[in-house]
Amino acid sequence: MSVVIRSTGAHIPERRIANEELASMVDTTDEWIRSHTGIGARHIAADGMQTSDLAADAALSALKKAGVEAKELDFIVVATATPDYLGFPSTACIVQEKIGAFGCAAFDVTAGCTGFIYALDIAASMLEAKKGRHALVIGAETLTRVTDWTDRSTCVLFGDGAGAVVLSRIDEPGRGVLKTMLGAEGSGHKDLVLVQAPRTKTFERSEATVPKIYMDGKNVYNFAVKSITVLMQRIMHESAYHLGDFAWIVPHQANARIVQAAAKRVGIPEERFFMNIEEYANTSAASIPIALDEMSQKGLLKRGELIMLIGFGAGLTYGAAVLRW
Ligand code: UT7
Repeated sequence: MSVVIRSTGAHIPERRIANEELASMVDTTDEWIRSHTGIGARHIAADGMQTSDLAADAALSALKKAGVEAKELDFIVVATATPDYLGFPSTACIVQEKIGAFGCAAFDVTAGCTGFIYALDIAASMLEAKKGRHALVIGAETLTRVTDWTDRSTCVLFGDGAGAVVLSRIDEPGRGVLKTMLGAEGSGHKDLVLVQAPRTKTFERSEATVPKIYMDGKNVYNFAVKSITVLMQRIMHESAYHLGDFAWIVPHQANARIVQAAAKRVGIPEERFFMNIEEYANTSAASIPIALDEMSQKGLLKRGELIMLIGFGAGLTYGAAVLRW
């Protein structure tokens, strides 16, 4: 028995804001953003589009490719830090209604940018425990709604989007999710926080008080480089894998410099890390499933090859998953 990613899907909002356009609204430059982060643009959800809309669209695309009907789903897990409603109902329940998957279990997972890895691990464990055959795992965010557009050190970093995978239990041993590793350093919880504060500037959508992102960039940067390095080393140490066995490492897309630093530390070529941050910026829990969908569309994910997903983010949380495609 194996639990495999059967298909992928994504929703990227049409509205694209290149660095140059952002620089006309905020005190920054394309040169600074590119040289410090690798970001060239971000996509922004249209007015009226909720996180659940992005998630449902990505989900429907993944379901279509998998040949699985929404009514066949046993549960839906949405990883998000920007749910439609604060607290309840879960975004997963709204997605359930939007895709017509009535009756199946639906819940959200909050683990910052590591959310997709946490959600994948939970869903895979549930399928392994035979609590169903098919699950949807989604990472979806509308981060630009909680971005402080007066804070140039954070507002240039984030974008909106959603990615989804259909996860299925099949009778083929040795494939799919082979190993996962999750962790958290709660002592760093104040380094990356969505705090309540009034929104005052660009991209304002209402006068109401909305949360905004606070980040101690340097602390999070150091944590991120350490997390990628330690996760990769621990996975090698606790299993029979070698770094050379992996066709791709798919990291959370937070900053190209983080990946460059981690690649150097573990001693593997930077090119082995899939990166698409230039086009989408940091989409938090959505970044890894969006990357998987892009890789799938480009034919980069080949059956039988090993890949590693690595996430890190608010919490501070970290996690990795080894999969045989
Ligand atoms: O997904 C969640 C995880 N998040 C992350 O992994 C993010 C981790 N952190 C980072 O990626 C980096 O810390 C940042 C990209 C956020 C910041 O890069 P940095 O190289 O650490 O820049 P800094 O904060 O040290 O700022 C350097 C300078 C400052 O100017 P002074 O004080 O040296 O004169 C900033 O004011 O750059 C200035 N600066 C900017 N200048 C132009 C900061 N933001 C900008 C900007 N445009 N957007």
